[in-house]
Amino acid sequence: MVDLVGALLVIVQAIFAMLPAYVANPMAVLTGGGPPIDGGRVWRDGRRVLGDGKTWRGLLGGTVAGMALCGILSVAVRAAGAEGSLTDFLMPGWGGLSWVYVGFLLAFGALFGDSVKSFFKRRLGRDRGAKAPVMDMYDFVLGAFLWAGVLAWPWFSGAFHLWAPWHVLVVVVVTPLLHRSVNIIGYKMGKKEVPW
Ligand code: CTP
Ligand code: MG
Repeated sequence: MVDLVGALLVIVQAIFAMLPAYVANPMAVLTGGGPPIDGGRVWRDGRRVLGDGKTWRGLLGGTVAGMALCGILSVAVRAAGAEGSLTDFLMPGWGGLSWVYVGFLLAFGALFGDSVKSFFKRRLGRDRGAKAPVMDMYDFVLGAFLWAGVLAWPWFSGAFHLWAPWHVLVVVVVTPLLHRSVNIIGYKMGKKEVPW
């Protein structure tokens, strides 16, 4: 017999932990533009290092937005958590870690992963915006896991090891769904040139 409530709790906890990383990408799309991170430079293969789709403004806007969301969620959860119960549930591993730190690592890590993905996309000869389904969907998850996993281990182990590996499985399943829906919305809004 599957423990439905337990499963639901794992889903909520995993998605909550990833929210600052999830918001970084769409906010980079909204705030992006201007000088590209690679400064227009090309790699030895004659193609751009990262391309015009990775800009300083997008990196900054996405990181700040992710940190802001992390701060809002942190304040909201702490205010709503009676005797710390909700806080313990949604922010189990935060301990003494500040939302500034957790938010930065998740949001910046997500966009770092996104840029590393673009680097490899360019090396494979794919132009800016070209489809790279698996890479495009998991780049920011890997980036956020890497940065937060290494530099905020107490947070990461609390958020993802409590009932692991189920939390990680939730992120693996939910991410493509969220990614696709958000990109279709961005495309319809005219903020993204392609719906992926
Ligand atoms: N964006 C940005 N800076 C970033 C990330 C994104 O300015 N660090 C903006 C760009 O306008 C970009 C858009 O968000 O075109 C969509 O992001 P994404 O899909 O990640 O980039 P692509 O244009 O698809 O480029 P790539 O092929 O390199 O992924
Ligand atoms: Mg893209």
